[in-house]
Amino acid sequence: MSDYGPANSGEAIADIYPSVDERTVPMLAGLARGGRVLEIGIGTGRVALPLLEAVVWIEGLDTSVAMVERLLAKPGGDRIPVTIGAAIEMPVEGQYTLVTALFNTFFMLGGQPEQVCCFGAVALHL
Ligand SMILES: C[S@@+](CC[C@H](N)C(=O)[O-])C[C@H]1O[C@@H](n2cnc3c(N)ncnc32)[C@H](O)[C@@H]1O
Repeated sequence: MSDYGPANSGEAIADIYPSVDERTVPMLAGLARGGRVLEIGIGTGRVALPLLEAVVWIEGLDTSVAMVERLLAKPGGDRIPVTIGAAIEMPVEGQYTLVTALFNTFFMLGGQPEQVCCFGAVALHL
């Protein structure tokens, strides 16, 4: 794996991210409606790993190799395919019933133009 570029990953504070609220996994699994899930900015898998057993398929997209290496080091991390790339480009294949950008990820994508582009790219995969 190679670094995608200067990533705003939040890695420095990854160890102090809040624990996952017990309502989060059932809520996301319900929204997925038995379909495929993509998490933009999957990071260390804080939410994706607990969600893994509750959905049919989950994969991730992230700009940070360092964050994804943390995910891979966790039990079950190797069961979640992750693409290294930026949300604005959405270098993923196929369709999903749920695309998430959790925690503060959406505000790490850049400014409003990048956020609007991200919505457009996501729409093509829903
Ligand atoms: C605050 S962390 C949240 C990680 C995870 N979603 C969670 O809730 O624990 C934000 C993640 O988004 C990733 N990220 C930042 N900019 C991104 C972009 N433009 N495209 C994809 N991922 C990005 C960062 O590398 C980081 O892993």
